[in-house]
Amino acid sequence: MTSTNGTPVALVTGGSAGLGLALVSALSRGGWRVVTDARHADALVAATAPLPDVTAIHGDVRDPTHQNDLAAAVGRLGRLDLLVHNASELGPMRPLADVTPDQLAEVLATNLYAPLGLTRRVLPVLRASAGALVGISSDAAVEHYPTWGAYAAGKAALDHLVLTIGAENDLRAYAVDPGDLRTAMHQRAFPGEDISDRPLPETVVPRLLALVTGDRPPGRYRAIDEPALQLTEVVR
Ligand SMILES: NC(=O)c1ccc[n+]([C@@H]2O[C@H](COP(=O)([O-])OP(=O)(O)OC[C@H]3O[C@@H](n4cnc5c(N)ncnc54)[C@H](OP(=O)(O)O)[C@@H]3O)[C@@H](O)[C@H]2O)c1
Repeated sequence: MTSTNGTPVALVTGGSAGLGLALVSALSRGGWRVVTDARHADALVAATAPLPDVTAIHGDVRDPTHQNDLAAAVGRLGRLDLLVHNASELGPMRPLADVTPDQLAEVLATNLYAPLGLTRRVLPVLRASAGALVGISSDAAVEHYPTWGAYAAGKAALDHLVLTIGAENDLRAYAVDPGDLRTAMHQRAFPGEDISDRPLPETVVPRLLALVTGDRPPGRYRAIDEPALQLTEVVR
């Protein structure tokens, strides 16, 4: 099973819906091998079955055993050119003073501790492949929106985690704010609101891929500011 050719490999968490699925689809159709996950097996299988060279493993990214399974799948492919921490929890949307430490810890378990646990497991192969490390961030990481504090604190910390691990390991690391997107998470953040004016996640993927497969220095970026990659180009 070890990949002996130069086919690039990506690990993208949360690949059954939204931005994660759009990214997995573009990478898969661009000739990459992709490992991805989500908690709900049926939705994950339905979303990824039509895509070539996708290894879909259902599980919760917070679960260390599941993290081991993801790392093992990458190990079988023999390289890792791109690791994207995309799976995310919105958490309680209320003033921070009304959020208990336990509730904050629950949000951080998905948005911060899981990315650390998974990165640690695949770091040797990511380094050996000179791969890129990406945390999907948010404008909430740098703004101070009332009631978004738990999510925002996790995203700000994820930015630091990804960029610091990048600096420590001489990796191309990027914290990327994708901008508002028409997804299930966005709808949960704005219940009852018509979000049809927000762009679909597919529109941001060519910008995100241009950034993370290009030669931009490590740092925090907004996808909207990046020129779009033509997806007919080789995205590596
Ligand atoms: N949408 C926006 O407007 C927006 C704006 C800024 C930043 N972002 C960021 O963009 C990223 C993608 O968001 P999205 O809007 O595409 O979200 P989404 O539509 O809710 O999709 C989230 C994906 O992650 C999976 N997932 C969630 N928790 C997981 C867990 N614990 N373990 C494994 N998989 C998990 C979900 O599947 P299961 O539920 O089956 O696990 C699903 O596949 C997130 O990091 C989000 O914070 C989004």
